[in-house]
Amino acid sequence: VNIKELLNKLTTEEKIGQLLQIAPFFFVKEAEIEVQGEVKDLYLSSKKIFLSGSVLGIRNAEEMIKIQKLYLERSKHQIPLLFMADIIHGYETIFPVPLALSCSWNPKLAYDMARISAVEAQTSGIHVTFSPMADLSRDPRWGRVVEGFGEDPELIKAFVEQMVYGYQQKNVKDEGNIASCVKHFAAYGAIEGGRDYNTVDLSRLSLYQTYLPGYKAAIDAGAKLIMTSFNVVDGIPATINKHLLRDILRDQWKFEGVTISDYDSLHQVVDHGCAAGDEEASLLGIQAGLDIEMASSCYVRYLAKQIEDHEVEIGLLDEAVGRVLTLKEELGLFDNPYKGASIEKELVLVRSKEHLEASKKIALESAVLLQNNGALPLNRKLKVALIGPYSKLKTTNGPWSWHGNNDLNHSLESTLISGGVDLIYVSSAENESELNANDSNELEKADLVIVAIGESIRESGEAHSKSMLDIPRNQASLVRLAKKMKKQVVVVLYNGRPLCLDTILEADSILETWFLGSMANEAIALLLTGKKSPSGKLTMSFPRNVGQIPVYYNHLTTGRPKVEGHYNEYVSYYLDVENSPLFPFGHGLSYATFTYEGLTVSKEKMNPSEQMTVSIRVKNNSEIEALEIIQLYRRDYVSKIAKPVKELKQFKKEHFKPFEEKTISFELSIKDLTYINDTGENVYEYGKFQIMVGPSSIDTQNIDIVLIKED
Ligand code: NOJ
Repeated sequence: VNIKELLNKLTTEEKIGQLLQIAPFFFVKEAEIEVQGEVKDLYLSSKKIFLSGSVLGIRNAEEMIKIQKLYLERSKHQIPLLFMADIIHGYETIFPVPLALSCSWNPKLAYDMARISAVEAQTSGIHVTFSPMADLSRDPRWGRVVEGFGEDPELIKAFVEQMVYGYQQKNVKDEGNIASCVKHFAAYGAIEGGRDYNTVDLSRLSLYQTYLPGYKAAIDAGAKLIMTSFNVVDGIPATINKHLLRDILRDQWKFEGVTISDYDSLHQVVDHGCAAGDEEASLLGIQAGLDIEMASSCYVRYLAKQIEDHEVEIGLLDEAVGRVLTLKEELGLFDNPYKGASIEKELVLVRSKEHLEASKKIALESAVLLQNNGALPLNRKLKVALIGPYSKLKTTNGPWSWHGNNDLNHSLESTLISGGVDLIYVSSAENESELNANDSNELEKADLVIVAIGESIRESGEAHSKSMLDIPRNQASLVRLAKKMKKQVVVVLYNGRPLCLDTILEADSILETWFLGSMANEAIALLLTGKKSPSGKLTMSFPRNVGQIPVYYNHLTTGRPKVEGHYNEYVSYYLDVENSPLFPFGHGLSYATFTYEGLTVSKEKMNPSEQMTVSIRVKNNSEIEALEIIQLYRRDYVSKIAKPVKELKQFKKEHFKPFEEKTISFELSIKDLTYINDTGENVYEYGKFQIMVGPSSIDTQNIDIVLIKED
């Protein structure tokens, strides 16, 4: 299809229709409403509904085919509808939640997850997924940290890039591929107090250095769409923010794809107090460069008049509609409006054995062993009791998995039994008060107690922020009870965010499993029984208490840093808690024991066009085969702009056979020594840097190098 010619044939009203996105509900009233957010009557006539350009939140092939058919029967120009949905960590085969996935430090797994998600989702006629979420966050109170890749820009970049490749591959038109919509542009994760949809107030520097690189990585990887965020940036709602949508996105990043609002966020500009009503919101949106309006009707009700009155140039509308039509063309919808949708294929491809196996493999790498005093892996000779609500629950899919079915998953009880664990007693009591004397007698017979606790799947995700991060509903009392009974205690945690774990620290072992998806408990059983060693490491710091938040590893030094071992009252610290987090970024244990020795650099000085090799010897000192994540950080000692105490620059995940020793090398180049300044440029300054390599952000060997001028 020649997009220009097609555009010329459309009336203004038909063009504006392409910018409207509504739920399936509007076409077929009986369709279930699965989108999150208030579903409003948008004051749309049936005519307008059947001119709209895209649909969000489709359930399955049958529904998609029905709506597309109904629509095309009434469509003059035969421009197919575009179907979009939130496929966040799997379609029906559910994978670990993104925060868990990032703890694998293995971006290749993100590719695999996105690939399978695309293959499954396209069978229902979904053409675009609202994923990946590239929002960096330092606030675990925010429920949406579960959908992101943690607190570090480099890790986020690596993961979102692979997600985009996995969804779209080389050519998004090919069968099995779907387009990726990165979100939420910009800085949604920086909301005040961790309260969802709240205000964001950031320095430009922080925006450029910390929050923008993730979205940019997705755009550079070829993401076809970008979604604006609910928040303001510099006082202007992101959805109508020209600086974001034109200066940065179009001029600096050269993005040519489609911009889309978040759910109702164009209308919400009115609630932000930045437009007097929907009419002004429409004007501000189109001027700022917002193409599709999701789930509100500002454009559809006011834009035509604004064009007629020459308040808005038709060129702006054509630009936006041209991008939407181009996307439809790139996806191959003009050739086949039902692309991918197939009830038969859906039955075979979705939640297949291979896909479930892949999900299990990813789950195995995503769990993090936070603490282990030898209770894990489980000693086969011990009698084991399993208590806590998650002993019998199957709700391991986590938030944003609405095509997935938790009922098809297995409970920890069942996977432990099939894994050969001698379970002498199982109780799903939530806390100590729900146990009676008989329960205590049974517990008494066990040598080791597994306590399976955490948050419900409704306690994280969109709109699910919290001000307290303790283990909820007094579940920690189960740990205290088992310890009082002098049992070995293993805690298995199911949750969507870093929690404050001070109430369960007396446990011998803590395995953080987040929400690992369809095969969560299969993977957890393999880890608990030692058939596999945990290898995940944290990508978000675990605070000691809520008052410490934000607590993150790549913080600035301050002018009065606290130096361990030196007493000085007038430094930056708290009277009642340490500065450090409880479990730091990069932390995660293995059943194997690794030693790191002999950090060396191939030269001490290099100029910007040179490279140097950083090497360290890593040895597995155990008979256990395992994966280990080796992390490289840098510190820029002196520069015009204050720098973090450390910043992750490179990482490797390596497999070690029993007692194997390897020299791990990193090629260091100028890109590891640059920084982003307050105009968004990548710059460097000559001088001394520290290079740190180790198994976690707080356990590194360090060496200084110097960046010198070229001769
Ligand atoms: C609102 C959420 O913020 C966004 O992430 C999601 O993609 C849309 N709703 C559509 O469901």
